[in-house]
Amino acid sequence: MMKIEDLYSERVLKMRSSEIRELLELSQQPGVISFAGGLPNPNAFPADVINEIIDKILNSDEASTALQYGPTPGLRQFREELTRFVAKSHIKAKIENTLVTVGSQQALDLVGRVFIDEGDVILVGLPTYLGAINAFLAYGAKLVGVPLDENGLRVDLLEEKIKELKRKGEKVKMIYTVPTFQNPAGVELSEDRRKRLAEIAIEHDLLIVEDEPYRMLRFEGKELYPIKYYDDGQHVIYMATFSKILSPGFRLAYVIASEEITRKLIIAKQSVDLCTPSFTQMIAYHYIKNGYIEKHIPRIVEMYKRKRDIMLEAMEKYFPDGCKWTKPKGGMFVWVELPKNVSSIEMLKDAINEKVAYVHGKAFHVDGSGENTMRLNFTNPKDELIEEGIKRLANVIKKRLANSH
Ligand SMILES: Cc1ncc(COP(=O)(O)O)c(C=O)c1O
Repeated sequence: MMKIEDLYSERVLKMRSSEIRELLELSQQPGVISFAGGLPNPNAFPADVINEIIDKILNSDEASTALQYGPTPGLRQFREELTRFVAKSHIKAKIENTLVTVGSQQALDLVGRVFIDEGDVILVGLPTYLGAINAFLAYGAKLVGVPLDENGLRVDLLEEKIKELKRKGEKVKMIYTVPTFQNPAGVELSEDRRKRLAEIAIEHDLLIVEDEPYRMLRFEGKELYPIKYYDDGQHVIYMATFSKILSPGFRLAYVIASEEITRKLIIAKQSVDLCTPSFTQMIAYHYIKNGYIEKHIPRIVEMYKRKRDIMLEAMEKYFPDGCKWTKPKGGMFVWVELPKNVSSIEMLKDAINEKVAYVHGKAFHVDGSGENTMRLNFTNPKDELIEEGIKRLANVIKKRLANSH
């Protein structure tokens, strides 16, 4: 009998299944109030406008482009529109700096493909986005964690870490960061740390992968420049997605990087999928060009801010002493630190029994820490279920605490 294990590539042996994707299935049982996923609210999808745009495209000459294979870097008119779109976020880009990808998850994978050899070090936050961890691990990266605080990544500790790793002869290549309303912690990297991070990359010849899905989901506070703004044009690979401001079903995102890096990413993409679907690019092109996106984002922000407020108020009311949580100014997540002796992994069984779900925080920590942490999503559940879900969760925590004494 053939043993398939003997045939797998070494690369496949390094791949990990996403604990979260598996957990999502559990949380979809009937009656479970789920704070587990990272899903936008379906009411945030502009279905009627999309319908109108599709109708126009299919009844015009554009149909032949929308239904055809496209160039690997993306449709030219869409890339051009993107250069104008990112300028509003203070990013200067020419079409040669722009690459359209199938979600930013693909962009992360392409970065891994182009830059990571076995054992190369990537510095990431503690905690950090699980999809990036898994993408980079698949290429054999060694992920080294740097703690976060309420102002995001501890850039001072990061610099010490880089020096220490270099002294040990490690090949430090990259810093991966989600500076605005981070997934999972919800925190925002402060302005001075953004500047400093760009300087560190330049001083140490490193790349920064700046992953910005939540930049436009700001409920309050002043908009900060992206790290890319402080870059000399060579060091920051910026990526953003339409998943949270239009629809994740479009699987549409983009990368802004130096011409040299963009060329390499394009070559890597050629063998992955030839091109991003022309159809969704064409829809998104009209969606941006005609200003729908500017009208739509404030509606999403209003909805999510309301949901955040309901969640935070309920947490204040029901959560027991000894729990701490972030108060995000935007994005989709609240991050909770439970008392040290409570394992959010063990507690998950109790939570599912009580018909409430979350993601345990250990999955987001590359150093195995974070056992007493968890991530709560506030954007997907209905308003009227958020308070009830938090109440259930608070009871689960209280029971755990009572049993652990
Ligand atoms: C930080 C971060 N990066 C990337 C992604 C993947 O986004 P996309 O839907 O564009 O693949 C997500 C999705 O939740 C995310 O939170």
